[in-house]
Amino acid sequence: MNKSIFRNTGLVTLVSLLMACGGNSKDTPVPEPIPEVVAPDTPAPEAPIAAEIANGGFEEDTTGQTTPVGNWVFRPDQESSATSTIEIIESQEGVNTYKGTKAAEVIVNTLGDNPWGIEIAYEDLPITGGKNYEFSVWAKGEEGTSADFWIQTPAPDYGQLSLVKETLTGEWQKITLTAATAEADSLVRLAIHFSKEENINKSIYLDEFSGFILDDVPAEEIPDVQYSEVTAQSLKALAPNFNIGVAVPAGGFGNSIIDRPEIKTIIEQHFNQLSAENIMKPTYLQPTQGEFFYDDSDELVNYAKDNSLTVHGHVFVWHSQIAPWMQSFQGDKAAWITMMENHITQVATHFEEEGDNDTVVSWDVVNEAFMENGKYRGEKTTNDSADESVWFENIGAEFLPLSYKAARAADPDADLYYNDYNLIWNADKLDAVINMVNDFHNNGVPIDGIGFQSHISLNSPDISTIQAHLQKVVDIRPKIKVKITELDVRMNNEGGIPLTYLTSERADEQKQYYYDIVKTYLETVPEDQRGGITIWGVIDEDSWLQNWPEPTTEWPLLFFNDFTAKPALQGFANALKELIEVAEPAPSSELLTNGDFEAGLDSWQARGSASITLDTTQAHSGNNSALVQGRTETWNGIQKDIKGLFSAGETYNVSAWVKLSDDSTTVSPDIKLTLQIEHTSTEYLELTPVTTVNAGDWVQLSGTYTHSITTQESAALLYVESNELTANFYVDDVSVTLVE
Ligand code: XIL
Repeated sequence: MNKSIFRNTGLVTLVSLLMACGGNSKDTPVPEPIPEVVAPDTPAPEAPIAAEIANGGFEEDTTGQTTPVGNWVFRPDQESSATSTIEIIESQEGVNTYKGTKAAEVIVNTLGDNPWGIEIAYEDLPITGGKNYEFSVWAKGEEGTSADFWIQTPAPDYGQLSLVKETLTGEWQKITLTAATAEADSLVRLAIHFSKEENINKSIYLDEFSGFILDDVPAEEIPDVQYSEVTAQSLKALAPNFNIGVAVPAGGFGNSIIDRPEIKTIIEQHFNQLSAENIMKPTYLQPTQGEFFYDDSDELVNYAKDNSLTVHGHVFVWHSQIAPWMQSFQGDKAAWITMMENHITQVATHFEEEGDNDTVVSWDVVNEAFMENGKYRGEKTTNDSADESVWFENIGAEFLPLSYKAARAADPDADLYYNDYNLIWNADKLDAVINMVNDFHNNGVPIDGIGFQSHISLNSPDISTIQAHLQKVVDIRPKIKVKITELDVRMNNEGGIPLTYLTSERADEQKQYYYDIVKTYLETVPEDQRGGITIWGVIDEDSWLQNWPEPTTEWPLLFFNDFTAKPALQGFANALKELIEVAEPAPSSELLTNGDFEAGLDSWQARGSASITLDTTQAHSGNNSALVQGRTETWNGIQKDIKGLFSAGETYNVSAWVKLSDDSTTVSPDIKLTLQIEHTSTEYLELTPVTTVNAGDWVQLSGTYTHSITTQESAALLYVESNELTANFYVDDVSVTLVE
């Protein structure tokens, strides 16, 4: 205890004693205490507030323990391809323990695909929000070994607060990092990752984890930036026949768009195609061998369908994001081929729909099969730990053509793409892909396009490089499509001081770059080869780049976090406006009014005892159709008075679309369009041939009709009828046009 505290305490006690006495005896004047003047001493430095890491030095554990006391979790093999041992060891202080007699030892054997495959973590460490923390650990590992020390928000979000990558020296060394916690944070996790080439067959020791509060996180002052104006109302409206896609989180992801109306509004306003950011990858669709999980992806595909969006499927075959069982599958080459083909066949078949109504219109069949040097991933021609692929390693290069053949067999009308990153600037890699395509062409292997992922940074690559690389694929013969599949543009850390907010100037540079990219694409890729452009995410904070490969803010996309459009969107829109020719709709030669029921049942009547209702859930086009029910005679149905429509001697194209109301019925009625005409006699004329209609799809009744009646008619009724009385059906798009 120091002097001033002692004195003050004494003084307080004395004063309270005197006051208490005074309270009891009013009459006896109590002398005012003379305040003692205390020389101001320097206050004792307060001990920093420590984070309560239970068993931070592993002293409470016993040797060999792999589940230490406290919130520790040792994960030596989070991925099946990662193996290591992590356990508590006992040693003399200073040798393999830093303090005390216990420490954790990590021995890495084989690496996983991901840097987090081998991990020690302390979960749910209570912290105070809004503070700067310093965390540290003592580590010892042979010179050249290394460890990544992360501070993250808890699972499942793993928001990255801080990361330090430390190379070890052979001596005990302290790894320190600071992390700013947000006001709302109350827990963090500490995680150390060891999946690195240089650690193979080496031991690393860790001891004495600790953490304490440094100070308050200063409130960030972000000026109110005035960004340049965005007037574009809808990207897709500027380019009706061009795929403008966006990747979206769905299913179990915390930021699933399914529960976010603001994001849905953006999607429906601007985009006409979706990619699933994750949930259609192998690990999500076949988490257990032979057990396919489609609930989440069906929900997304149905959302797309309901909003007239198509889906670009991502992805059948990839070395990453595959389930553990698939990663560690045991079998010879033939067994691997069967397993791979089965995944493709099952998934492609699931999403394939009858006729040409497919929502999933294209697929990335294989993703990222090549390394930067143009060799196959998994061929091990590099020292890169990412040079691994179970597909190449177990099947050989043949996995590529086999995948495309399986995909084509299962979904004959989907466009089949090969997708990869860096193709937009890396000539070695692009040439390897082009060689593969030529090879496919020479051997009758189906492929319809190349997907350029295009995860790029502001002004890098330059536009002439982008042009040249797109051109190379455009020039392939026979022609294939070119699609930009995962576009995002990093805006931070461009060699200067990292930005803490997106300045207006920088946002305009991004606008220009997006404009240049879209313009270059449209100028380079002829219309019949355009697969479209997809942006990898909707709002900036949802971008995968926020956390990959390490925490950073990148503002890579077209929308701010408050859901407003960025100048980048205007750049995209300006290029579309300049380069896409929107054909004026041909003047309508339609002779019938309201044949599409978009004006309700106006001008239509029930025929006979049938009832007709307007239906807004089923439509061949637009939003509405008419539902015909309750017929008791074959001639009952739906009719329209068309007196005076046909002229003698003219020929007409006549058409109507029908669909049975019961998708599971096995009845296949014959349906036709008939004209009942009254002149000198009553005649019933078949306008379309009798057409058999099976359940499930819209079917067209279509024919040509020449009007040969020359006398004046007193009535003319056009109607849909069926030989089958139990059949209830929808009718839409009834049309009569003159054959010139
Ligand atoms: C990314 C997703 O955006 C992340 O959410 C996920 O954690 C990892 O995968 N190339 C691809 C995409 O083909 O599937 C990747 O998507 C980004 C790189």
